[in-house]
Amino acid sequence: MTESVRVLFVGDVFGKPGVEALERLLPGLLRSERVDFCIVNGENAEQGKGLVPGVVEELFQAGADCITGGNHSLYREKVHDLFDREPRLLRPLNFPEGTPGRGSGVYDARAGKRIAVLNLHGRALLPPSDDPFRLGKAAIEKLRGETPLLIVDFHAEATAEKIAFARYVDGLARA
Ligand SMILES: [Fe+2]
Repeated sequence: MTESVRVLFVGDVFGKPGVEALERLLPGLLRSERVDFCIVNGENAEQGKGLVPGVVEELFQAGADCITGGNHSLYREKVHDLFDREPRLLRPLNFPEGTPGRGSGVYDARAGKRIAVLNLHGRALLPPSDDPFRLGKAAIEKLRGETPLLIVDFHAEATAEKIAFARYVDGLARA
């Protein structure tokens, strides 16, 4: 049986205008599109770079079920504790070992389905990180043991790297 779920992914909410737009538009979209689960990339929601706890709360209040990130996720130190404590707040899995937070989670979507989200970070034109291909595939295989509904946020600069990763995991993730 094929399971389906309606997912809304909102990319790169940028600074105060982005947060305000999300607060204004997201609740209506969640209703009109009958969204079961909403992922928001929020790594630049605080003044265009990084996150702070208050802004994380605003994104959740606006309707995000999970917040993903990228190279700027941990830019501001006062959010580091929250990355350790809040399972709905993800940063790239392939950040160096010992980095606060986590790179994946399994959540309850509104339709009574379980959904997994994985956040990765590319290496082309970005600061050094661990291998997103090797770590990403291992994480996908593990998460698929929990639910077939898996969404990957691959945060990268180079289109070629994104396409290569998509081909590498083709058929293993839903999007
Ligand atoms: Fe970024």
